[in-house]
Amino acid sequence: MEHMEGLSVVDCTHCPALVDSRQQIVNGTGPADADLLFVGEAPGANEDDQGEPFVGRSGAVLDDALRDFGLARADVRITNCVRCRPPENRDPSQEELSNCRGYLEAEIDQIDPEVVVTLGKVPSEHLLERSVGVTNEAGSLVEHELGGESRTVLICVHPAATLYDRSQEETFEETIRKAAELAGDGGQSKLGEF
Ligand code: URA
Repeated sequence: MEHMEGLSVVDCTHCPALVDSRQQIVNGTGPADADLLFVGEAPGANEDDQGEPFVGRSGAVLDDALRDFGLARADVRITNCVRCRPPENRDPSQEELSNCRGYLEAEIDQIDPEVVVTLGKVPSEHLLERSVGVTNEAGSLVEHELGGESRTVLICVHPAATLYDRSQEETFEETIRKAAELAGDGGQSKLGEF
């Protein structure tokens, strides 16, 4: 069973393990015309409790970095590759990622952002369909076809990486700075289109 209303999945039972482990489906949050769409991996315990992506410690790291570069959380769209919390916070399986892919592509299509920012290895590899060394590639802008359209993707480390490894902090912040710059000017001019 699946059922989407606008940008929200209101009913889905494609992934049996996730149906068992979730309290609720965690949909994306933020304006429907956002310039920036941040894509994480999957909800954790806090997100599963509150029904919103990135509301735990990782979310605080993301919010702080956005604020440092002149953006509020409410200015951007935030979503995940998979909308239900995996048991014991394991990585989502390939099958779970592909079950949820249509919802993510529908969201990307409707938001039509200037830039899709991938937060960590799982969303970077899932969206770019190749292996990605996120630490080395963080800050790279890549054009990639998503849901039949060419999109600009900015690779970023996961905000939680900065909590485990301080050296990732600068990498994370520099990438968020770049995202904020790209959003600031409507994106186009900074993307070299004019
Ligand atoms: N990590 C993610 O990838 N997504 C969330 O929503 C929270 C933490």
